Amino acid sequence: MKAFAIQAYGGPEGLVAVDLPAPRPAAGQVLVATEAIGVGGVDTVIRSGALAAYGFEEGFVPGSEVAGVVTAVGDGVDASWTGRRVWAFTGTGGGYVEQAVASVADVVPLPADLSSAAAVTLGGSGVVAHFGLRHARFAPGETVLVRGAAGSIGIMAVQLAARGGAAAVAVTTSSAERGERLRRLGATHVLDRSGGGGEDAPAGYDVVLDVVAGKDMPSFFDRLNPNGRMVAVGAVAGQPPADFGTKIMTAFQKSLSFAAFSSATVPGAERSVVRGEQFAAAARGEIETVVHEVLPLDAAVSAHRKMDAGEVFGRIVLAP
Ligand SMILES: NC(=O)c1ccc[n+]([C@@H]2O[C@H](COP(=O)([O-])OP(=O)(O)OC[C@H]3O[C@@H](n4cnc5c(N)ncnc54)[C@H](OP(=O)(O)O)[C@@H]3O)[C@@H](O)[C@H]2O)c1
Repeated sequence: MKAFAIQAYGGPEGLVAVDLPAPRPAAGQVLVATEAIGVGGVDTVIRSGALAAYGFEEGFVPGSEVAGVVTAVGDGVDASWTGRRVWAFTGTGGGYVEQAVASVADVVPLPADLSSAAAVTLGGSGVVAHFGLRHARFAPGETVLVRGAAGSIGIMAVQLAARGGAAAVAVTTSSAERGERLRRLGATHVLDRSGGGGEDAPAGYDVVLDVVAGKDMPSFFDRLNPNGRMVAVGAVAGQPPADFGTKIMTAFQKSLSFAAFSSATVPGAERSVVRGEQFAAAARGEIETVVHEVLPLDAAVSAHRKMDAGEVFGRIVLAP
């Protein structure tokens, strides 16, 4: 079967088409004939070599989420999965393939009205946004700032905060055009990447959901209201300054909280329930899935170039 693997760390051209034997599902796994593969930000980070120290070796097949039809099941898996169209988490990698294996615990059936492309924009990111907001103890009537809102996690967080009754949903983004698109999804105030602009934006926020981190993180922590909570769900701009901890303690009298949040700490069964609910909501048109572009699997290198250039609003999807 056709797959794309990282044959050399660095630029997108290090990603090359390879011919791999079709996998067989092991015990507890299903085999999925992929119809859609989500291109995630972490795929490009792994390809760049930035995570080489974590044991990612050349020849690694990137891609974490796919959607398609189950064609075979491993030992211990109910045969009724065969023939069902599903979303599946393949792990840190293994997704850029025509046939993917996934643990049945990480597989969720798809409603007939939701396309496979839509499913891979939502399956991973929706859960991060949902449980990230829960980790921040977000409550109706609170003001929320979503930093790095133009990616698939931010787009979901904006929609969930707005639907959840936020008093204001401010976003950071790099262009007015993206700001308009985010307003249509529920944003009430649009700030630039450094937090400037945003006429009439709230002076402070109860919750900051941060996909970006990096050197500007402390200045967004400063925007928290007393008892405010900042939750970092990503680090697309790298780590915050080394003295960020000092910043938290300096604001002692405001009782502020900072937390990192990974959806990996949420029990798998809970993730699956929320995914199922979000897929159903998207099928009913209550959640918008933003597919930036669908490209053939053969265009994986081009997809990574677009990601590296920061051109993507929402998610690029590869279709085998
Ligand atoms: N917590 C979890 O469980 C979990 C799970 C999966 C992934 N992640 C993490 O989530 C992140 C990817 O999320 P995503 O796909 O939603 O994000 P993304 O699309 O990679 O980035 C989100 C937005 O951030 C803005 N941005 C990019 N670089 C920036 C910079 N240097 N400074 C300020 N803004 C910048 C861009 O929008 P503008 O150009 O409009 O500003 C971009 O669209 C990664 O860090 C990944 O490791 C976390």
